[in-house]
Amino acid sequence: MNHLQIAIDGPAGAGKSTIARKLAKNLNITYVDTGAMYRALTYKILKDKIEINNIDSIIETAKNTNILLIEDELYLDNQHITDEIRSKEVTHYVSYIAQIPELRKILVELQKKIADNNSVVMDGRDIGTFVLPNANVKIFLTASIEERAYRRYNELLLKDQPVNLQEIKKSIEERDKIDSQRDYAPLVKAEDAIELDTTGLSIDEVIEKIIHIIHRDK
Ligand code: DC
Repeated sequence: MNHLQIAIDGPAGAGKSTIARKLAKNLNITYVDTGAMYRALTYKILKDKIEINNIDSIIETAKNTNILLIEDELYLDNQHITDEIRSKEVTHYVSYIAQIPELRKILVELQKKIADNNSVVMDGRDIGTFVLPNANVKIFLTASIEERAYRRYNELLLKDQPVNLQEIKKSIEERDKIDSQRDYAPLVKAEDAIELDTTGLSIDEVIEKIIHIIHRDK
């Protein structure tokens, strides 16, 4: 069980997935995007028109859903749904769904299982605190709200989606508030995590800093 575990947490839009994906590739280990799992369940709940307040039904759905994540490819009940989970609607509702402890426990079990069998770079909100408390390296990635909103704005522009910088900023702030104020496994920096403010840094500069930390702490 000598798998390498690198946990990357932080608020929305801090660049976690871009950094984690590239870092995993660089280290030749598995990338696990835990946000994609919460998004997949949210997508299914919306698609099946389950009331957002119907916690029992949401938990039942979570229990009866098969999520398979292979790097960037996500299969929900054997159906490939990579792009659908990034919609505005899913992004809006995912933080509400992710507050439900029973649903989190189901996904955390799946995440732990992947890390038991593979060396991983795993990104999310509770990886260093809950999912992989003994990770070899824990990074808490941040950036100013202005920069995070601007990065998301540019990403959406590239995808030809309609964008409004103020709206994006508001949506990121709302999500961070819900994620960090929930009772169970909130977004919080693990005591032993290293905080890295990426404001003004390029992707490669951030990767370089993390690789330096890995070699130092491993
Ligand atoms: O990283 P992301 O933006 O794709 O995550 C979507 C949402 O999922 C995020 O707003 C909160 C939730 N999430 C979580 O609660 N715990 C995680 N480990 C990952 C994501």
